[in-house]
Order: sequence, then structure tokens, then C-alpha cells
Amino acid sequence: MKTGANQQELERLMELARKAAENSYSPYSKFRVGAALRLTNGETVTGTNVENVSYGLTICAERAALVRAVSQFGPGVRIAAVAVANLNGTASPPCGACRQVLAEFIEPEAAVVFPAADATRTMSFSELLPLGTEMKLK
Ligand code: THU
Repeated sequence: MKTGANQQELERLMELARKAAENSYSPYSKFRVGAALRLTNGETVTGTNVENVSYGLTICAERAALVRAVSQFGPGVRIAAVAVANLNGTASPPCGACRQVLAEFIEPEAAVVFPAADATRTMSFSELLPLGTEMKLK
């Protein structure tokens, strides 16, 4: 079951993600990505990808948004829904690294909406990263 936002909210979140992608710093890949997070406190935070000449230091849009959310609202932030968009007209589901980082702060049933190969898809976070929120250190 997907929760965290109704269809209208998800569309609004997609629009914010698209807008965030306009700020993309992607001179190397030219792949312009935006992400928008709906938090359980009702706030919305966006991010975009920020690349680097040392390619591996690139920060994806999803992680940029997450770091911004924690910086603004503190370590207790919880993510209720995520939207990802790109301005290149192709698929961009959150990468594996972003899924793992989101897992730390996201509700397992949070809706994640993203451009897939065929159409815009919405999946729950636990479908995207099974058991992702279960890892605990003792
Ligand atoms: N990128 C994201 O920002 N998010 C994704 O979900 C996929 C990839 C960025 C990283 C890099 O700047 C560019 O897209 C190409 O991989």
C-alpha cells in the first residue's frame, strides 16, 4: 500500500521536482534531475543534481533534497512521499545509492513517483528497496 500523499499532492510534488531540475548543475552528463520530498511535518523540500569534474563526487537530486531536509528540519525528519523528474524525457528511477540513503528517513509505504521507461510510475518505497528500512545496528 502506498501512502503519504494523494494523487493531487503527488502531481504537485512532480511539478516541484520538475522546477527543481531547472537548477541542475550537470555540465558533464547534461542530465537534469529534480527531486521533491513531502515530509510528515507537512513541509516540502526540493533538490537537484550537482555534478563535479571528479565525476564520483556528484550528488544526485534525491540526496541533495534529503540533506537539505535534515539541515532545515533536523534529524527527526520523516519522508512521506518522493517525486523525481528530469528534463531529458527519459527514465530516472532513484539510483541504488539514493534508495539506501532515503531508507534512513523514509516511511516504508511512502509513495515514490518517477519517470519510468514507459510512463510515470508510482511505487512504494519498500517495493523499490525491499527490507531497506529494516537494517538496524545493535
Ligand atoms: N541522477 C540523479 O540526480 N538522480 C537519479 O535518480 C539518477 C541520476 C544524476 C546524477 C548525475 O548528475 C546524472 O543524473 C547522470 O547520472
